[in-house]
Amino acid sequence: MDIERDVARHYTHGSLEGAILGALASTGKDVDHLDTADLSAADEFHLGWLAQTVELAKQLDLSPGMTVLDIGAGIGGPARYFAKAHGCRVTGIDLTDEFVQVAESLTRRCGLADQVNFQTGSGLALPYDSETFDVATLIHVGMNIADKATLFGEARRVLKWGGRFGVYDIMRASPDPLPYPMPWAHTAETSFVETPETYRQLLTAAGFEIAKERDRSAFALQLGREMRENAERNGVPPLGLHTLMGPATKERLANVMDALQRGLIAPVEIIAVKMK
Ligand SMILES: C[S@@+](CC[C@H](N)C(=O)[O-])C[C@H]1O[C@@H](n2cnc3c(N)ncnc32)[C@H](O)[C@@H]1O
Repeated sequence: MDIERDVARHYTHGSLEGAILGALASTGKDVDHLDTADLSAADEFHLGWLAQTVELAKQLDLSPGMTVLDIGAGIGGPARYFAKAHGCRVTGIDLTDEFVQVAESLTRRCGLADQVNFQTGSGLALPYDSETFDVATLIHVGMNIADKATLFGEARRVLKWGGRFGVYDIMRASPDPLPYPMPWAHTAETSFVETPETYRQLLTAAGFEIAKERDRSAFALQLGREMRENAERNGVPPLGLHTLMGPATKERLANVMDALQRGLIAPVEIIAVKMK
């Protein structure tokens, strides 16, 4: 099985840009002059959504002019946030070509193209020189990558000495089987959810020092509840993660929230530092 081909196929929508712009236009937005906030219902493809991106940025001490690499950048919500809110220069790389094209278009429409760029590629073979970035991030991507040792080795290589690596992945909290489909995989064949212990071991073996670690389950559950209650009260908004995930959205979100509630998985944030 070619994992990367299957993962990219899983995320490919086919007409995603039109679906997003159509949803925005239906609410009266000028799609040629967007604000990053207009997109946050759809472009933060992880538990805790924009609120968690804000938290992760705080943990990473981002500041103006820093160079950030977002590995598995999706359609670019976190990358645009790091640029707009913290003045960073951000590069996003992602396996899914359609996501990269949509990320570029949305970034242009938000007026951030001089600060944020995207390219198609794999986190397992980063096309950047060693010691290029101040910070790297990996947000809900490791669940699709079996070879985390190579992934962490690549992240370390492209970071400068003392550079920070912010990982926020869904991790395994129990050996019991997970329900599928999940947002990141239709079946267990392209799902590689590992324990925080495994992350810690592999990060340390790659040459990182673990600076901080936080289990974000309670935070993610609370925000998930608020989102569901809001949809029950006001109906499903025109733009949301359903725009990316299509008809299977309800089942995939129900499965991930159920697994979180039952303690099978946990969204965990780890800040690691590149040491000599
Ligand atoms: C759940 S989405 C998260 C997107 C984004 N980080 C966010 O939080 O909005 C996972 C993303 O990881 C990307 N991805 C999966 N495996 C990858 C790999 N080996 N290299 C680069 N990107 C990968 C997918 O294409 C997808 O865009």
